[in-house]
Amino acid sequence: MQLAFCTWPEVEAYLGRAQGIILPIGSTEQHGPTGLIGTDALCAELVANAVGEATGALVAPVLPIGMAQHHMAFAGSLTLRPTTLLAVLVDVLRSFARHGFTRCFVINGHGGNMATIMTAFSELHAEASLAGGASPLRCRLRNWWSPQAVMALQQELFGARDGSHATASEIALTQHAWPDSIKRAALEPAQAPSGSGFTDAADFRARYADGRIGSDPSLASPERGARLQAAAVAALAEEYRAFVEEA
Ligand code: NI
Repeated sequence: MQLAFCTWPEVEAYLGRAQGIILPIGSTEQHGPTGLIGTDALCAELVANAVGEATGALVAPVLPIGMAQHHMAFAGSLTLRPTTLLAVLVDVLRSFARHGFTRCFVINGHGGNMATIMTAFSELHAEASLAGGASPLRCRLRNWWSPQAVMALQQELFGARDGSHATASEIALTQHAWPDSIKRAALEPAQAPSGSGFTDAADFRARYADGRIGSDPSLASPERGARLQAAAVAALAEEYRAFVEEA
């Protein structure tokens, strides 16, 4: 059930029987020469909507722009600074709490969002702690690729060539869902992850010339994307059901 396609009486009726909501969050950032700029938002939304269908959960609209400052040296990337994303997230979580949701299951599509999402949860809890009250909302963060079954499948399909940015996995997922937008280009072997990480956008581009980190998206296919999506949805649906049942 997608929030955007509900009326308020429908949401009110939902809240009478369930208090969980799923929030997909992604990013709009370069994904190498063959990956869609929307990859992280598209994957998060796709998986979240399917988990919603599998569980009957309400799914909020995707937050499509994340914390992607390190991708800004590539055309088309958009970013919120961490403090902006934090403010957006806290207001969205407060909005859920205002209506009586008590559980928010965040399905994330971009590793660069994780620290800020966890900070948003802490911010919400700190407000309650400082006021001497109880947190209105319990939150959980899951990346769509983090369940054990998904990581095992990634390993089986791509091994180390999945990489850590513009991964074969995420590109396969978009190929499965949007086959008309499959892009092809000749790719050099990707730069391996540097031990010292990266800092700003210029530093990232200097280290990773075409935007990928260690990935070989030529291994992606719609069929492999379908398998990854099925694994992610099955695992996250089970986790969501357990999460809303927790005391
Ligand atoms: Ni990505």
